Amino acid sequence: MIMDKYTRRFDISGRVCIVTGGGGLIGLKHAEAITEGGGIPVLLDIIQAGMDRNIKTLKEEYGDDIKYETIVTDITDRDALSKVRDELLEKYGHIDVLINNAANNPKVEGGSKNLGAMRFTNFPVDIWNQDLAVGLTGAMLCAQVFGEVMEKQKKGVVLNISSDYGLIAPDQRIYRKEGLPEEQQTVKPVSYSVVKHGIIGLTKYLAIYWAEKGIRVNTLCPASLSNGQDEEFVNKISNLIPLGRMSDPDEYVCTILYMISDAATYMTGSTVVCDGGRTSW
Ligand SMILES: NC(=O)c1ccc[n+]([C@@H]2O[C@H](COP(=O)([O-])OP(=O)(O)OC[C@H]3O[C@@H](n4cnc5c(N)ncnc54)[C@H](O)[C@@H]3O)[C@@H](O)[C@H]2O)c1
Repeated sequence: MIMDKYTRRFDISGRVCIVTGGGGLIGLKHAEAITEGGGIPVLLDIIQAGMDRNIKTLKEEYGDDIKYETIVTDITDRDALSKVRDELLEKYGHIDVLINNAANNPKVEGGSKNLGAMRFTNFPVDIWNQDLAVGLTGAMLCAQVFGEVMEKQKKGVVLNISSDYGLIAPDQRIYRKEGLPEEQQTVKPVSYSVVKHGIIGLTKYLAIYWAEKGIRVNTLCPASLSNGQDEEFVNKISNLIPLGRMSDPDEYVCTILYMISDAATYMTGSTVVCDGGRTSW
């Protein structure tokens, strides 16, 4: 039997929890964490289809009665975000959690569509600008718009999603395709490293800025998510991980709920790393 003197702190019943990029792979895991805690996931995404897919899964898991919102919006557009904020305040009167999860996450690993040869020296500046706009500017704008509400409430939580690549550089050897000449090899783009390192800076800045306002701000670094990559890639990356395997997306759910709930009231400005030990090696 589970006792609940402490575990009741994971209860986020009725809390309005925004998830940017809510239609993606980890968007579902945030939504599951929020739903399990009794909160209301509010998924924001530029594409409705991914959110619909994630809500369908949520309903299969937790039943048709779950509370949720899906809102198509572009997080790089401050006016659009203000409209979302006003709609949520009108309906619920409060906004409790913001998970800055959206980022352009180019899949360059085995089994994924080859994006074409992207070396650092020919990396297009327009892709750099788009990646920073979503991953950094979007996160900053969401923190501005929804954080203003949290300031007034004197309570709120921001969870920023980084990566092991917010702490270390990609080991480009695992993205190589055997038999291709050097100039045709694709690399994990520089913008991904810059965005993921920058998110940790945003966390620390806001954690200090809001320390006395009742708003906690932390970073979660997921890593090496298993998502149908080919065997060659899985073997190469597994060799870099002390636990010897990629992660199952389910393995983040409890950590997410912990970080956004009152179980973590003394945690702010922190970087929580779930990487199978990769960055410790
Ligand atoms: N998947 C991984 O292996 C992995 C590993 C470490 C960290 N991460 C991080 O986790 C987060 C989620 O990753 P994922 O794998 O779920 O990515 P994903 O690509 O599956 O989902 C990202 C979502 O963001 C949405 N999006 C893009 N631009 C947007 C915009 N302007 N406004 C609103 N939504 C927008 C996309 O439509 C997409 O649904 C990212 O920050 C990523 O860097 C992922």
